[in-house]
Amino acid sequence: MHKLGIAITGSGSALPETSLDNEALTELVETSDDWITTRTGIRQRRLAHPGESLSQLAAAASKQAIASAGITAADLDLILLATSTPDDLFGSACQIQAELGATKAVAFDLTAACSGFVFGLVTAAQYIRTGVYQNVLLVGADILSRWVDWQDRRTCVLFGDGAGAVVLQSNESDRLLGFTLKSDGTQNHYLNLAYKGSSRELISDVNISQGTYQPITMNGKEVYRFAVQRVPEVIDKALFQANLSIEQIDWLLLHQANQRILDAVAQRLNIPKHKVISNLAHYGNTSAASIPIALDEAVRQGKIQPNDIIAASGFGAGLTWGAAIFQWGR
Ligand code: UT7
Repeated sequence: MHKLGIAITGSGSALPETSLDNEALTELVETSDDWITTRTGIRQRRLAHPGESLSQLAAAASKQAIASAGITAADLDLILLATSTPDDLFGSACQIQAELGATKAVAFDLTAACSGFVFGLVTAAQYIRTGVYQNVLLVGADILSRWVDWQDRRTCVLFGDGAGAVVLQSNESDRLLGFTLKSDGTQNHYLNLAYKGSSRELISDVNISQGTYQPITMNGKEVYRFAVQRVPEVIDKALFQANLSIEQIDWLLLHQANQRILDAVAQRLNIPKHKVISNLAHYGNTSAASIPIALDEAVRQGKIQPNDIIAASGFGAGLTWGAAIFQWGR
């Protein structure tokens, strides 16, 4: 009989070496270090160079996660890649599988923008709870620098590149204590990386569209409003499901979009500042990668300890948002 509980047993992260600070951005757009720092808390971001691929970054983070879980790539049953920026539109999870030599694992991509890691965590958990898989690698990785309009100061100052990964394993006790996932497509137009094509007549009366994806567009104010309102709601719901009170949370681990969002959500939930994990000063918004990178750093810094209770929440394009309450370690 398989164990049907879930434990998150290892983490890893990988960031490109090239770093761009706020001052450097003033060479590109009309902005200032002061505006970016006070409005977002971001001071610098990492950027993937042209030779770097998403699957390479993802594989580097994955190797750390696998090693820290104390398993090997051959043990993996499933690889889930949460990304909006695959190297290949057909998906990049299989390239990670090949890079790792995870011969037994089935691999596929999952797209839920900045909510991708939380959605992936819950998806991975279903496979373990049903007893079909025992060892799952979940990667959140994005290279948004390839899809940002570097002349749009409203967006280009926000994003950075990176990858984070965790290993989930079947376990006697279930460490995923509660979760809530939500979508609202009626607000889709607030944040897009949309395909845009032009019409082409293939043969007489047969028209198709050909084109490519357009740079990110965002209504920052609306997304901000949405995040500050919806994120506390889903955390509350997930906590209720977990039968836990706010005071029992050790760490608030939000998608790293804006320090003001982290502060506002913490304030609404009455969570003290010292429990809020934040690294966006260094990396900006790395989309699906932001939660696992911040998680991995906090684990390696010895902040997050085994049995600590973490409230994680992702939010972003779709619009999508969700929360997962879990306990670190076996
Ligand atoms: O990962 C997905 C989730 N995404 C998010 O959570 C993003 C949510 N939104 C935000 O974080 C914030 O809305 C932003 C950081 C994007 C913007 O902050 P804001 O306080 O909402 O600023 P704003 O858009 O209201 O703009 C205020 C002013 C405007 O000028 P006017 O119209 O008042 O003259 C902007 O044109 O700031 C201007 N502005 C800038 N100025 C200098 C916008 N971007 C910049 C910039 N540098 N980079």
